[in-house]
Amino acid sequence: MSGFILETKSLTKAFGALVAVDHVDFRLPKGQLRAIIGPNGAGKSTFFSMLMGVQQPSSGEIRINGVDTSRMPPHKISRLGVSLAFQITNIFPNLTVEENLRLAAQNRSMSFHPFRNAAGQPGVETRVEEVLEEIELSGKRGELASNLAHGEQKYLEIGLALALSPELLLLDEPTAGMSAVETRQTAGLIKRLSERLSIVLVEHDMEVVMSIAEKISVFHHGEIIAEGTPDEIKNDEDVQRVYLRSSDAAA
Ligand SMILES: Nc1ncnc2c1ncn2[C@@H]1O[C@H](COP(=O)(O)OP(=O)(O)OP(=O)(O)O)[C@@H](O)[C@H]1O
Ligand SMILES: [Mg+2]
Repeated sequence: MSGFILETKSLTKAFGALVAVDHVDFRLPKGQLRAIIGPNGAGKSTFFSMLMGVQQPSSGEIRINGVDTSRMPPHKISRLGVSLAFQITNIFPNLTVEENLRLAAQNRSMSFHPFRNAAGQPGVETRVEEVLEEIELSGKRGELASNLAHGEQKYLEIGLALALSPELLLLDEPTAGMSAVETRQTAGLIKRLSERLSIVLVEHDMEVVMSIAEKISVFHHGEIIAEGTPDEIKNDEDVQRVYLRSSDAAA
């Protein structure tokens, strides 16, 4: 075994003439908290959607725990222990927090025991309780999801991903639209989760990235242009150039 929970080789996705992800070699050691940064349109979300099987690679390979998932549909990939929060928002607004989590956890146990009724199965209720604790929404378990504050809904989305008991969690801009306080709390939550999970986090908030990521991969025009620790990335000239140029363009 390679010891990598996730490995891509020359992974490529083209939309017509536009190569959104361009021969990406990416390796995530088990247990690592990795951030992916890069300007808008760099290919970060497209990379995630291939990892989840939502989009088919144009070429190249994806391995999860050594298993080739390059052509697998999403439900098979999630059965291998990969969860994605935020790409697919699957909160049911008219169900309570607890009911939303129970549905997600049941999905997981159904996929393992397709012919057994999930209700009453040990495991589902336990998992719901654990997740409620983890995302600190135990006090709001009976609240309708639609009544939650924006930040709490984001927490619930992370909770839905966690209810599947993943080994690898993919988070696409979890702090988008959050207040400064919510952003700090979310960074704390991700850090805590990383003690028992492998995580890949796409994030624009540099303070969050620099404070919690163990390693950072920088995407630009579909390629990884730099990889390293937060300090290495801060001091990387190519990275500075890309970010200066994109903030010039925005100004
Ligand atoms: N389904 C699609 N069809 C055509 N082009 C697409 C499609 N999805 C993404 N793209 C293009 O691929 C490129 C990469 O997009 P992607 O959404 O992966 O970037 P990103 O790094 O996630 O950006 P952001 O930081 O804005 O979320 C962009 O030029 C985008 O317009
Ligand atoms: Mg994106």
